Amino acid sequence: MIKAVRGTRDLLPPETALWNFVEAAVRDVFRAYNFQEIRTPIFESTELFARGVGEETDIVSKEMYTWEDRGAFSRDEAEKRLDELQEKLGLPDHEIRDHIKLVKVLIGEGKGQSLTLRPENTAGVVRAYIQHDLGKNGLNKLYYIGPQFRRERPQKGRYRQFYQIGAEVIGPASAGSESPARDAEVLEMLATLLDRLRITDWNLELNSVGTSADRVAFNEALRKALEPVKDRMCADCQRRAVTNPLRVFDCKVPEDQPIIETLPRITQFLGEDSRKHFEAVQEILTKVGVRFSLNDRLVRGLDYYTRTAFEFTHGALGAQNAILGGGRYDGLSEALGGPAAPGIGFAIGEDRLVMSLKETAEGVLRKPDVYVAAMAGMNGEAARLARELRRHDLVVELGDDSFRLKKSFEAATKAGAKYILIVGENEVKADAFALKNLSSGEQVQVARGELAGKIRGQ
Ligand code: HAM
Repeated sequence: MIKAVRGTRDLLPPETALWNFVEAAVRDVFRAYNFQEIRTPIFESTELFARGVGEETDIVSKEMYTWEDRGAFSRDEAEKRLDELQEKLGLPDHEIRDHIKLVKVLIGEGKGQSLTLRPENTAGVVRAYIQHDLGKNGLNKLYYIGPQFRRERPQKGRYRQFYQIGAEVIGPASAGSESPARDAEVLEMLATLLDRLRITDWNLELNSVGTSADRVAFNEALRKALEPVKDRMCADCQRRAVTNPLRVFDCKVPEDQPIIETLPRITQFLGEDSRKHFEAVQEILTKVGVRFSLNDRLVRGLDYYTRTAFEFTHGALGAQNAILGGGRYDGLSEALGGPAAPGIGFAIGEDRLVMSLKETAEGVLRKPDVYVAAMAGMNGEAARLARELRRHDLVVELGDDSFRLKKSFEAATKAGAKYILIVGENEVKADAFALKNLSSGEQVQVARGELAGKIRGQ
């Protein structure tokens, strides 16, 4: 049997009803905050993530699905074509050389490119922002829903293909993209969204990771503090201590934790502007009544973050308890060769969000309003009636005239239909149909024109 690849899974009904419920709810909330949808490609050039997310991050250094895309044609194919050409034309060697030159150029143009399945979507959105000059629109408020790919060790709540619901607020500073009001609005929207989904026991952890200028001094202090202790740390940390000391805070190795606890924290190195910005975000959050706790170890696993960084955790999720994460990335556009475009965003792990819902699929699934049971030879009439009822926005399950009445009743009950509608020869002649309420057992004769109203309970 061929099975779904490790770390990937099929989402099946009825659980897919929950996914649709979540997506409909978040689209509603995004609309209320004036966000619009963006859809970027699922694969991008590898360089985008290397430069955007950062070479030293776990995501880029260990977890990406990367491959060399095939060129327009292979070297073998090119050589074969050249041989054919030589044979056909009977050209002398020196003339052939010109053709070789041309073919080499073609091979060069068609050469493979390194591509990667997106491990996250912020880099893709910022690439699109730059490519389409979206800064001309002022502040862009964009959201996305879609699959991401990371080659992590699969476990509960952690998959190799997982889904994110994310949003980014990005634009020129003149459009207010740098304002702490934007950070607070994004965080307040998230609180609203989780409340709307009746996820109550979340915890917002907040930190400021400073500007890149603040981090020069911090990195220096970290390197110094790591120098005498790094040899006792894991191989990853030993490397990080030299190349990108901030990433030491990503370490999950239990033995390294006591050492990490003693390291300096970014909060001690925030410049005046960063500190004020962070305080302003907290003030607004307090004003609008969004609770949060400060966590000065929170640095997030991606290199693009500046200033505000956050995660929402949820107790019921176990080890993978981060339901969403995000923060500011004021220098990302420039790092990707674009204009200055401060931004802030987040991504919710949709798999984890669905896991933490109190709702059950049964609770959100719209069951058929009516099961249309066709008696012998009545498939056409039943289909006509089902078509009419569906036009009234009713959920209709259509039976089959090979079913006996008993089997139709069983099928209607199994489908969870509210009513069963009998379509037999007599009913068609009378243009009135037997409609039975499957829970109360009440049965009535209803004229065709009144069926939809009756089923809807009007
Ligand atoms: P991230 O923290 O890497 O941030 O991922 C965001 C969320 O995606 C996590 O909190 C988690 O819920 C979910 N997630 C990550 N990896 C997996 C996995 N293997 N299986 C299931 N769920 C997973 C980002 O991706 C940033 N792009 C967020 C952002 C947007 N920052 C600014 N704008």
